[in-house]
Amino acid sequence: TLPSRVRIVEVGPRDGLQNEPVTVPVAVRVGLIERLRAAGLTSIEVGSFVSPRWVPQMADTAAVMARLPPNPGGRYTVLVPNLKGFEAARAAGADEVAIFASASEAFSRANINCSIAQSLERFVPVAEAARAAGIALRGYVSCVLGCPYEGAVAPQPVASVARRLVEIGCREVSLGDTIGAGAPDQARACVAAVAALVPPERLALHFHDTRGLALANIRACLDLGVSVVDAAVAGLGGCPYAAGATGNVATEGVVADLARLGIDTGIDAARLAEAGHFITDHLAEARADAVRPAGIR
Ligand code: HMG
Ligand code: MG
Repeated sequence: TLPSRVRIVEVGPRDGLQNEPVTVPVAVRVGLIERLRAAGLTSIEVGSFVSPRWVPQMADTAAVMARLPPNPGGRYTVLVPNLKGFEAARAAGADEVAIFASASEAFSRANINCSIAQSLERFVPVAEAARAAGIALRGYVSCVLGCPYEGAVAPQPVASVARRLVEIGCREVSLGDTIGAGAPDQARACVAAVAALVPPERLALHFHDTRGLALANIRACLDLGVSVVDAAVAGLGGCPYAAGATGNVATEGVVADLARLGIDTGIDAARLAEAGHFITDHLAEARADAVRPAGIR
């Protein structure tokens, strides 16, 4: 059976904006998050504390967090790859940190410069520090339906990485089709395999829409006991270490499709559309500015 309610985790301000060729100013990042909250989103991934040399677009996450309105009952989440990132997240007042592992060795190397096993070891002290600080812990598994370097990825390594993340202390594990390679039957087989090792109530679906199948993939997994879906307003997104990956599934599309199925998300579609226009207008302007010769208006 389908869930009666789905919680959407809005990842646009992080997964979306980290991949834009232009760096979005702090005020615009804050304005976007304020509008997402106004639309009813309470779980929002607001940025990351990673190496600014690897992902310069997220360099100002501390400044963004300093300007965010309170989010009672909700969660501002940030992505952290190591203890250095965790310390920055704690100092900035994050409600939740997200650690990120991969189901493919090559992607792990490209994205965080270490093997899968090394990354999982590195996350143990992050999890301990989060627990000690009372900060919630989320985990990602990337490349669950395919890898830009290795091609097809089988469900079993996905399931074992997901289980390890739960053992380490993740409250929730998000399954990332990082490059949007999956199809519905494959997505369902993967989530079913993971759900054999991890309670499905603790899983989230994080699908990118490269082949236009993200909504269908979500639909194919929703009767497996999963009720958390990651999405990005206006379908922003991609991944700097996954060439060709397009955006996350659009939050607007998820909200509309779930409403059609009678599943409540608590999101105001009109206000969500306003948030989408706000950021796409800004990005269109910024892109135009980037190619406009100096002095010409
Ligand atoms: P490294 O070069 O191996 O790290 O990178 P290092 O420990 O040798 O440090 C190198 C430098 O980075 C040092 O500075 C560190 O201080 C600094 P230097 O002394 O050279 O000036 N550094 C940091 N600075 C700020 N914050 C930190 C931090 N850590 C080290 N936390 C590292 C390893 C993990 C740091 C690097 O590879 C990295 O930052 N990777 C992040 C990549 C990333 O953010 N990718 C996108 C997110 S993943 C994604 O989008 C997928 C997802 O959406 C799910 C899906 O779709 O599947 C989540
Ligand atoms: Mg992603």
